[in-house]
Amino acid sequence: MGRLNGKRIFITGAAQGIGLAIAQACLAEDASLFLIDRDAALLAAVAGEMGAPAARLGYRAADITDADAIRAAVAKAGSEIGTINALINNAGVNVFAPPLETSDDEWNRCFDINLKGAWNCCKAVLPGLIAAGGGAILNIASTHAFTIIPHTFPYPLAKHALIGMTKSLGLEYAARGVRVNAIAPGYVATQKVIDYWNGFPDPDAAKAETMRLHPGGRIASPAEIALAAVFMISDECPFMNATCLTIDGGLSVQQHPA
Ligand SMILES: NC(=O)c1ccc[n+]([C@@H]2O[C@H](COP(=O)([O-])OP(=O)(O)OC[C@H]3O[C@@H](n4cnc5c(N)ncnc54)[C@H](O)[C@@H]3O)[C@@H](O)[C@H]2O)c1
Repeated sequence: MGRLNGKRIFITGAAQGIGLAIAQACLAEDASLFLIDRDAALLAAVAGEMGAPAARLGYRAADITDADAIRAAVAKAGSEIGTINALINNAGVNVFAPPLETSDDEWNRCFDINLKGAWNCCKAVLPGLIAAGGGAILNIASTHAFTIIPHTFPYPLAKHALIGMTKSLGLEYAARGVRVNAIAPGYVATQKVIDYWNGFPDPDAAKAETMRLHPGGRIASPAEIALAAVFMISDECPFMNATCLTIDGGLSVQQHPA
């Protein structure tokens, strides 16, 4: 029996990158999944490739900024795979702009997706978790939640707040059996990071510099983040609550690279 047998997990941003790796790892540990992504075609393709029976794998194209759509998706998940008892808030986007040139649209997009979207999902799922006597929520934050890379405003602000939400909800619902935790990945090899490198005049040099900054000379794979996600959503850490696990190969604790 897998480590996530009996878990019915709602995962956002599951069509690629870290979310997809988490979904694959959770499925391999016998969880039932309901996957959300705003990229309908990609989501349908990856869900099809997973090849799990409908009773164990449902999906719906939805934007996490649309609270009504998320509420409807949670209800749909309940009828397809059973009442959701775990949530992984993974969907997120980079929004980087010079502070004084950040438009209202950029600011709103950053906070609507990276913070409010996660809250929309918590709000939709929490009543079911409380009614069931407990459950787990895992927010995919970032090392941007407590350190700053210059020229990445306002993304780190939203990730700081996501940790605030993790702590706040973790305390509010601890007595109801709900654990709320976060993972703070450093650089992870996904399209998002490739897009970040491509934003530099010399993307290859930017990539090489990223590797040089890391104590181990490399960045994480999505699967390495998923290993921790499986543990944190499982029953193997029942007293872990309102905290954040950093997975960055040691990047954020070094004073400067060797
Ligand atoms: N890649 C990294 O280096 C890194 C590092 C730290 C934290 N993170 C965080 O991990 C999470 C996943 O990042 P990734 O690198 O896998 O990203 P990614 O861009 O590879 O994948 C993100 C997925 O989320 C979906 N998505 C985006 N906005 C959405 C919305 N509003 N509603 C529904 N779906 C939406 C996208 O369509 C995409 O499929 C994000 O929260 C990101 O901030 C990533």
